[in-house]
Amino acid sequence: MTSLWHGFAEMGAVDGHEFVVDRGEGCDVWDESGRRYLDATASLWYANVGYGRREIAEAAAAQLEKLHAYHIFGDFATRPVLELADRLAQIAPVAGSKVFLTSGGSDSVDTAAKLARRYFHELGQPERTVILTRSWAYHGMHAYGTALAGIGANRDALGELIPDVAVVAWDSAEELEEAIDRIGSERIAAFFCEPVVGAGGVRFPPDGYLGRVREIVRDAGALFVSDEVITGFGRTGKWFASGRFGLDPDLLTFAKGITSGYVPLGGVLAAPHVAEPFWRRGVTWRHGYTYSGHTTACAAGLANLAIMVREGLDTRARSLEGPLADALAPLLDHPLVSEVRTGVGLLAAVQLDPARVDADASLPLRAAAACRDAGGTITRALAGGGLQISPALVITEDQLGELASGLRAGLDAVA
Ligand SMILES: Cc1ncc(COP(=O)(O)O)c(C=O)c1O
Repeated sequence: MTSLWHGFAEMGAVDGHEFVVDRGEGCDVWDESGRRYLDATASLWYANVGYGRREIAEAAAAQLEKLHAYHIFGDFATRPVLELADRLAQIAPVAGSKVFLTSGGSDSVDTAAKLARRYFHELGQPERTVILTRSWAYHGMHAYGTALAGIGANRDALGELIPDVAVVAWDSAEELEEAIDRIGSERIAAFFCEPVVGAGGVRFPPDGYLGRVREIVRDAGALFVSDEVITGFGRTGKWFASGRFGLDPDLLTFAKGITSGYVPLGGVLAAPHVAEPFWRRGVTWRHGYTYSGHTTACAAGLANLAIMVREGLDTRARSLEGPLADALAPLLDHPLVSEVRTGVGLLAAVQLDPARVDADASLPLRAAAACRDAGGTITRALAGGGLQISPALVITEDQLGELASGLRAGLDAVA
């Protein structure tokens, strides 16, 4: 019996059967019995610099001793938060961006959604309250993010959380255009878009899709919000996928890779024209979180970014996307696999045959468990029955081979 209520879990099955992770190093983690696993997921897509980085631990420890945290409401600040904001502004895909810090991805989505609506209020267009989102989208679990979910199951059985939200097909610019026409462009505040859909199955944008939707949103006078909670900090071979795809986002949400998860932190980058009305004299935006820009989290973030630069991890995923595709492609001959999605950075999905998943909804979870138990490779079942591949950015080509062998062993075990 356990007292812990796990997220995204069937507690009746989990209770007393926890898989307890004990330590980590590089791309690997060990359970309490001392068995090693190759982590194909970097935990929940966040351990970009890998496990066991003493440098981050020491930066955090030094900060904890000096001043563990001080808030940043009003005119309060700490040196690490100021430095991190400057550092983020330097690497932001839009020059001169301002940085609003949060405690994680869901906070960041909530912040961006409210910010978009408040922005138009400041501009004298308060009727712009509608936010558009895409099928398969995952924008976190706060009420706004849940309302914006394109994974229907995440919205089920809650009633309407937030009105003025509309979902369009994840891969159709035409459908976005039609929705804007139907609702009226003068009512649209923002379009939320993961440059690569993550938790909804790792789905890469069709050729030309991102450029076209960017144009449509600009023409509608609305804000383009690039949700880079997963794709940020080197995951796609650039600091941000927005840079890789030339998205020029009005708002960009981030979390996870900013600290590689050593401590929680998130935020929103706002392009200068979006920040401008909020920086006028006499305007106070009554928003912020107790742990926005937590001092120790910022110290860890600075150490994490320094490692990424020193080791070239901001661009490394680009050079590994070919080897990742080569390592995973042979899995396509497996009877349980219908598709292997690769192509952008260290992100991939091994799709289990939808017909088999329809016939047996427990297959993806069983397959992921078998990859871990029989194959020694940790993966995760994503919405739609894909297995998540998002290893730490330090992974080697040999380890990519090990990862693929582990998946095959697991799939063989359940086939
Ligand atoms: C694209 C995206 N947005 C938002 C979130 C929510 O982040 P968090 O779980 O840190 O609240 C996630 C989490 O995986 C995500 O993938």
